[in-house]
Order: sequence, then C-alpha cells, then structure tokens
Amino acid sequence: MQLRPSALVLLLAALAGGPAAAHDHDAGSGSDQRQVIRLTPAEKHFLLSEMRGFVAITQKIISAATANDMAAVAEAARVGGLKAHQKDFANPDSLVHGIRKKAPQAFFPLGRETHINFDRIAELATELKDRDVVLNTLADNLNNCIACHSAYRVEEAH
Ligand code: HEC
Repeated sequence: MQLRPSALVLLLAALAGGPAAAHDHDAGSGSDQRQVIRLTPAEKHFLLSEMRGFVAITQKIISAATANDMAAVAEAARVGGLKAHQKDFANPDSLVHGIRKKAPQAFFPLGRETHINFDRIAELATELKDRDVVLNTLADNLNNCIACHSAYRVEEAH
C-alpha cells in the first residue's frame, strides 16, 4: 500500500502520540471531573440501555440518510423521540422517575431536548426529505450527547 506523505505524517504522529494526534478529551487531567449520579443497578441498566439505543438510532439514521431513504430515517429517529417515550414518563412505576429524582436539575432538560431533536429529525425526513438537513440536525443533536457526557457519570449506589 502506498501512503500519501500527509497520511504518513499523521500516522507517525498518531503512533508517537504527538500533538497532531491530540484530540479534545480531558483524559490528560488524570482524574474524572464529571459529576456522579448514583443510581440503583436497575436504574443504571435502564439509563445505559437507553444510551446504547441512541447509538443504534444514530447509526440507522446515518446509514439511511446516505442511502437517501428518508422513510427509514424517520422510522429510526422516531424510536429516539419524546413521543415514543411518553408512555414511560406517564407510568408512575417507570424507573425514569427514580433517575429524575437523583439526577441534577440540568440533566433531564438535556435528555428531553435530545429526544425532541429525534422527533424533529423524523419530521424533517418526512416533510423536507433533505438529507443534508437531516444530517446537520443529527450533528447538532450529537452535541447534546457530548455536553451531557462531559458533565455527568453514573455509579451504582450500594
Ligand atoms: C442527559 C444526559 C445524557 C445525554 C443527553 C446523552 N447521554 Fe449517553 N450517557 C449519559 C450518562 C450519565 C452515561 C454514563 C456515563 C458514565 O457513567 O461514564 C451515558 C452513557 C452512554 C453510553 C455508554 C453506554 C454503556 O452501556 O455503558 C453510550 C453509548 C451513550 N451514552 C450514548 C449516547 C448518545 C449517542 C447520545 C446522544 C444521542 C447520548 N448518549 C446522550 C448521559 C447522557
């Protein structure tokens, strides 16, 4: 395989861990500064399952958008939407309420906005059918994931 010189420089820098390989994370600070949310094992499982769902939804949206299949984009996005979660929120026995009590105030609005944006993506895919708009909205929404992940982490309460 023939590597272009620029690719080679990047590869060497990455292997050497040089500045060109640096990216925006805080591992360098040596300690985790994120605020801890203490949840029961069941609540933690509930939240993290939801999170893994977010990745699967994101994968489906990107894959469907690049195939220009806007119906499939809408279908995938709806699964992450607020409307799809309404039943959970309305159910007093849902674990979501325990998490809400334990999480800091800013946590739920951020999650809510993330869900609303998935509904928005479904709408855009259905009405506008423009994949650039869909992908831009998804990219914006991923900033909510980043914001929340840089602020909070979960631990099991014993
Ligand atoms: C309101 C806050 C919040 C939002 C918004 C959020 N997350 Fe998370 N996510 C968390 C927390 C807290 C954890 C646990 C992190 C930890 O303990 O280190 C987590 C963990 C995860 C994990 C790890 C799951 C596992 O099994 O360990 C994935 C993957 C993830 N999030 C994906 C996403 C994606 C993709 C989005 C956006 C579409 C997103 N999250 C939005 C709070 C959030």
